[in-house]
Order: sequence, then C-alpha cells, then structure tokens
Amino acid sequence: MSRSPTIAVLADVHGNMPALDAVLADVERRRPDEVLIGGDLVGRGPEGSRVVTTIRDTGWQTIRGNHEDYLLDFRRRRVPVAWWSQRRWAASRWMAAELSAADVAWIEALPPMLRSALEPGLLLVHGTPESANAGLGPWTSDAELSRHLAGLNTEVLICGHTHRPMDRRLAEGRVVNVGSVGLPFNRDPRAQYALFHRDGDDWQVEPRKIDYDRRKTYDIYERSGFLAEGGITAGLLKLELEQSTAYLGPFLKWAEITDRRPDRDALDRVLAAYDPALPMHEQLRQLSVTMGAKP
Ligand SMILES: [Fe+2]
Ligand SMILES: [Fe+2]
Repeated sequence: MSRSPTIAVLADVHGNMPALDAVLADVERRRPDEVLIGGDLVGRGPEGSRVVTTIRDTGWQTIRGNHEDYLLDFRRRRVPVAWWSQRRWAASRWMAAELSAADVAWIEALPPMLRSALEPGLLLVHGTPESANAGLGPWTSDAELSRHLAGLNTEVLICGHTHRPMDRRLAEGRVVNVGSVGLPFNRDPRAQYALFHRDGDDWQVEPRKIDYDRRKTYDIYERSGFLAEGGITAGLLKLELEQSTAYLGPFLKWAEITDRRPDRDALDRVLAAYDPALPMHEQLRQLSVTMGAKP
C-alpha cells in the first residue's frame, strides 16, 4: 500500500540565512516528499542573495512574494526617482544592490502561486489568491476566508506574508498560514514552517518551530554593513527580529497617516507610545490619539 506524501511549506525567510539553515536541517531530518517555498525570500534582511542561491539550488517549487516585487522594482528602476537618494529607502537600495544579476533573473521568473505536484488539493499563495500585498491572519474573519476559498477548488489554501501562523477550518476548505522562517511576528523567535500530511479526506498540519542562534543573524547585520548603511529601516528590522513582532510597518503607516517624517526623532516618540500586543488598527488608533496628527 502506498503511503501518502508529506509536504513541507516554508515562507518569509527574509534574508535570514541562520534561520533558513536551521529549518533546512529540520527538513532534512523529516525527509518530506516535496518542499514548497512561499515567497519573501528576500527583503527585510541582509542575506537575500545567499537565501536565493540556496533555495534555487534545491530546485524546489517557489513563488514570488511582495518583497521580491519591491526589490525587482528597485533593480529595474521602476520606483520614483526620489527613492534613489531619500534616506528612508536606504535599506531597500542596499538589499536590491546585494542581489546578483542571476538572482534577479531567477526571481523574475517565479510564479505568483502554485499547486503541489504531488497533492493538487494544496494551493500555495504568498498573501491571498488575489494579492501578494494583502495578508490572512488570526484577525481575518471567517467570511473573508470563505470568500477567498470560493471557486478555488482547493482543499487547503496555504499562505504566508503576515508572519503569523494560523490554521482555520471552514465549510469551503481550510486556510493555513505557515508563519515565517526568518522574521516571525507572533512573539515566538523560532524559525517557523509547516508539514502537511494527508490523512484520508483530511490533512494533518504540523507547525514546526525551530530554535536557532539569533546572535549569528545580528552579527551578519553588523558585519555586512546592513545595520550601519540601512538607516532607520535596518534598525527597526533588527528590533523586529529581537522582539518577534512588527515595528517597521506600524511606524511607516503612522508616519503616513500623521504626515510626519519617518526619522529618528519620530521613532523615539513612537516607541515610547507603541504597544505591539495590540492589533495593527488598534495600534495606529492609539498612536494617533496619543501623538496626534500633524496640523
Ligand atoms: Fe514577509
Ligand atoms: Fe510578504
């Protein structure tokens, strides 16, 4: 009797090679029949090129995330001219420049979604089936998840992007967010991915959380020059790594809605008022009330 396959899905490595190494060692131990990669290999971290090369050499099926799109836009000069000199885009320029021409060509050919070759009932997207920029997380309503599942002809819709693991069952199917290998936002610093194993008509989903030495990643932030040259963004990314929660997105969003410059001065004030335990919309409301919109 043939045994049903095990499929590993990992996403959101974000240029964090020590985290990826730890996950690859675990994958090696568990010996899945197929491995799928859910995008955001690059961006938000200093070793995008090494991550791309490592994944490319495995030959595993891979999709493109929004951070692949961002860095491609920088490399292909599809960004506003001001972004080439503005301080706030220093980290993006740094990460885009770090990729080789071969990395860029490989990224450019990645599809936005894929189905498992062994189990076509598994559909992998980065954010949602419509967008790599929108995400599904514990806060997403059942109605919205059902809307995404409708018409997909899929047993399990697998996603990443929000860096928050989730496993939800609905009448239309199941939605699993595998979390993030390199930059989790669920207050758990371990490198996270998931294993899928068919169990009759159902699926066993095993979330994996792998310990690794984050000091190695901090050291790469320093040695590579990313922290020194990546401006306020690189500093916020290191904070995200240390705290396993989101800082950069809320800070930039707050700066945008209050029309303030996202500089060091503003950051100090935001950090004093910021409560990462709150959901994003509540954080922004709180920050705006506490600090006010600029007149
Ligand atoms: Fe991501
Ligand atoms: Fe993403």
